[in-house]
Amino acid sequence: MQYRTMGKLGIRTSAFGLGCMRFNGPASGDSVIDEAKAVSLIRRAIDGGVTYLDTAYVYLDKTSETVLGEALLDGYRDKVTIATKMPMEYVHDRAEMEALLESELKKLRTDHIDFYLMHGIDLKKWQYFKSIGAPEFFDDMKKEGKIRYKCFSFHGPYEDFEYILQDNDWDMVQIQYNFMDVENQAGTRGLELAGRLGIPVVIMEGLLGGRLSKAPSNVQALYDAFPVKRSPVEWAFRWLCNHPEIEVVLSGCNETEQVDDNLRIFDTVAPGIMTEDELRLMDNVREAYLSRTKAGCTGCRYCMPCPNGVNIPGIFSAWNNVSLYDTDPRWDWNLKQIREKDSGADRCVGCGACEAACPQHLSIIDLLRDAWRELKV
Ligand SMILES: NC(=O)c1ccc[n+]([C@@H]2O[C@H](COP(=O)([O-])OP(=O)(O)OC[C@H]3O[C@@H](n4cnc5c(N)ncnc54)[C@H](OP(=O)(O)O)[C@@H]3O)[C@@H](O)[C@H]2O)c1
Repeated sequence: MQYRTMGKLGIRTSAFGLGCMRFNGPASGDSVIDEAKAVSLIRRAIDGGVTYLDTAYVYLDKTSETVLGEALLDGYRDKVTIATKMPMEYVHDRAEMEALLESELKKLRTDHIDFYLMHGIDLKKWQYFKSIGAPEFFDDMKKEGKIRYKCFSFHGPYEDFEYILQDNDWDMVQIQYNFMDVENQAGTRGLELAGRLGIPVVIMEGLLGGRLSKAPSNVQALYDAFPVKRSPVEWAFRWLCNHPEIEVVLSGCNETEQVDDNLRIFDTVAPGIMTEDELRLMDNVREAYLSRTKAGCTGCRYCMPCPNGVNIPGIFSAWNNVSLYDTDPRWDWNLKQIREKDSGADRCVGCGACEAACPQHLSIIDLLRDAWRELKV
């Protein structure tokens, strides 16, 4: 296992951090958590050198913290740092923040949380957290020793990230990043900004929730043609760890074999390790994925709201994801949402209001018709 020292915090941590969001089988997120299996998997990771564990109040129907707490009995707590999160939806004032933190400490069976994160924020959520005094609450909890570091995890556009990152004195930030997300969310610009500001970065969704672990045929052909043979997972993690700004890469594992594989991979990675040829390979791999894009929608939402209730960017995002990553449409979260909310392409009456507003000049009406033909959404 490779270790990093977290910039200004001076903490030594494993480069591989175990995400505790996926102990319930496939990434589709169904079925019931197998507690005994999860405990043994967590302990196997720690025995193999993992010192960073990430969970959240809401993960796995609020059972993830409890299982992690159980796994950290018998002396395991002292070997690791824990990150957990405060979800906006459950707190409206200081009393509720206090109660939520206490319940998390109890579930985790610990007297302190190392990294405490405002969960999955964008600018709107950050404004909300500020309005209820969350930053001051985090500072007070640091003084009381109930948390060690004030952090946030981020899902939103780069502009939001740039603002939030400089609007408080953060100890660490967690972002979604992988070789496909270089221009998505915080992206490479956000990663480099955090690096310049000296704020340690933890990565989530390094395999895009597992989608990058199974290469489609045109991508696999590129990997196969490269003289050095590595699995798609190893290429993805190697690419991430090549970035000097990244301290920890989280990965949620469902199987012991995945933990063992990741322990092996994270023994071989380091910043600046990739050759020019390897970096070119990953650029080509990204292009090969992108060549499977169905609709060139950037998700700007200028087309919304559709007067007939069609979730245009949601449909295109789902359609692209299914095509790019060979995802089984039954498990696509966006598709599920669209069907549940009855906002599919079958509601389109061809009025063209969306096409007039689209800065990409997409033929939205035709694309919606094709999406419906392929996915019935
Ligand atoms: N704060 C937030 O807003 C937020 C959001 C998302 C995630 N997170 C955190 O970040 C963690 C990491 O994200 P993630 O779970 O999406 O990580 P990820 O590494 O992108 O995806 C994990 C999935 O990748 C597959 N996988 C992992 N190692 C593998 C291996 N060696 N070989 C083959 N497949 C492998 C598994 O999928 P299969 O089981 O399907 O094969 C696993 O479920 C989460 O667990 C969670 O703790 C936080």
